[in-house]
Amino acid sequence: MITKTRALSLMKRAAYNYLFQRPFCVSFEITHCCNAKCKHCHLGGHIEEQRASPEQLGQICRQINPLIAQFSGGEPLLRKDLEEIIKAVRRPNRAPYIDITTNGILLTPERYYSLLDAGVDQIGLSLDYPDSRHDVFRGVPGLFERIEKFIQSLNGEKDKAITLLCVVQRDNFRDLLRMAELAYHWKVKINFSAYTWLRTHDDNYLLTPPEAEELRQMSTKLLKFKQQHQNIFTSPYVFKKMAQFFEHRSLPPCQTGVKFFNVNPDGTMSPCGLIIKDYGTQQELQEKFSRHNTCTYCYTSIRANTEKPLYHLIADNIQVLNRF
Ligand SMILES: C[S@@+](CC[C@H](N)C(=O)[O-])C[C@H]1O[C@@H](n2cnc3c(N)ncnc32)[C@H](O)[C@@H]1O
Repeated sequence: MITKTRALSLMKRAAYNYLFQRPFCVSFEITHCCNAKCKHCHLGGHIEEQRASPEQLGQICRQINPLIAQFSGGEPLLRKDLEEIIKAVRRPNRAPYIDITTNGILLTPERYYSLLDAGVDQIGLSLDYPDSRHDVFRGVPGLFERIEKFIQSLNGEKDKAITLLCVVQRDNFRDLLRMAELAYHWKVKINFSAYTWLRTHDDNYLLTPPEAEELRQMSTKLLKFKQQHQNIFTSPYVFKKMAQFFEHRSLPPCQTGVKFFNVNPDGTMSPCGLIIKDYGTQQELQEKFSRHNTCTYCYTSIRANTEKPLYHLIADNIQVLNRF
């Protein structure tokens, strides 16, 4: 539960960052190594890389001062010093809000509690299908069952700090209501975001324009479910934009460098996880990339949830502060 003091600090940071063009969310890709082989991602396997230390990452985070510090990858749980990183970034009773995005392979109840103790607010657990199709898609036999058992092992908790992260793509969009029902049954939240072909250059997972129309109908059902059960993070605004993205295969303008961007494993900065650069500061990223950026080919969660008009930013995030 977020305390009143912390909620106030988060609101102040949100207002400051909005006014002074500081980022809402920065994704720290703390390793590009990954223990899965997902069909929608170019990463997978071991990569030799230079890694910033927890202290360096803490310093970088304080310089950038995002509202949300997200730890992703690659697979962030592969870093044995993840808890040290979280402790270096967290400010007791203050911003940033801290979340982790994981495939869940290494997530045990012990690691879950150790991460929460270190200061994590929310764990985003990737799940693309409501059954064992997930195992095949991620190249990890038994992964769906492992995730199910892990979540059920937390049944004693009143409020699980878990949000399922589902990438909406051509072969799962008709299952989204089942995904929402599964999340409700498991007593966790769920977020939907759009597939992009920028990682693998495979446009077969993109919805076609008629399927984008079908997605609109699915969104109506999901929003009704959200009203009843309050377990879906995705807002009406994001569902609307997602259908537009699939219809046109593009959604201008991308506001990387202002609303969001990435920190690489070595502590340098990139516009996103799909375009890797080595800028030393946010200012350099803005000057050398954002000003000339013409890429509009994704609507990933980080873009969708930071590029909203002010009214939607406030309305949608009040839910987060109230933890639904
Ligand atoms: C790159 S992964 C890294 C974190 C972690 N290994 C995981 O799988 O959750 C971060 C998120 O991006 C999503 N993702 C991967 N490839 C994608 C794509 N082509 N389009 C949209 N989202 C994608 C994943 O499903 C995951 O939720």
